Amino acid sequence: MVCLGNICRSPLAEGILKHKILKAGLPWEVESAGTNGYHTGEPPHRLSQKVAKLNGIDISHQRARNFVPEDFQKFDKIYAMAEDVIDEMEWIAQNSFSRNKVDLLMNELYPGRNMDVPDPWYGPEPDYHEVYKMLDKACEALVQKYADHHNSNNAHSDILP
Ligand code: 4NP
Repeated sequence: MVCLGNICRSPLAEGILKHKILKAGLPWEVESAGTNGYHTGEPPHRLSQKVAKLNGIDISHQRARNFVPEDFQKFDKIYAMAEDVIDEMEWIAQNSFSRNKVDLLMNELYPGRNMDVPDPWYGPEPDYHEVYKMLDKACEALVQKYADHHNSNNAHSDILP
């Protein structure tokens, strides 16, 4: 999960997705990162933490890290919060950039619409609630897509000798 600062949107996306995959039993490794490095080492924004907590998710332990070219080797799928983030990832990763691993997270909910998750930085608290709702719906769609696949694979292997 990648955004610009790794303190507002992507830490929420990381926390929400981890919460959902635990419930769904998906064996994924999820991380988040930021492209601008302005907040490296910092915990998530206090309003991201607050909104997560109100929804039963603790993201206070997270620390912002920079998006690095090696992320393209380490991860199968990289979700950007917005189009400008994809541009920055491309600039950072250079030859390691692999467009087919990248998608906008909101395309999981609204395929092909190329919708950005708006940056709530500088915004008031309601903006963070709105971002949470968008991320929650997109992560739910993402998990459902793969959970169905995962469960049908498991069901299939159960009946094989
Ligand atoms: P984020 O929000 O990308 O959702 O973490 C931002 C946080 C900080 C900055 C930009 C976006 N900044 O420029 O410091």
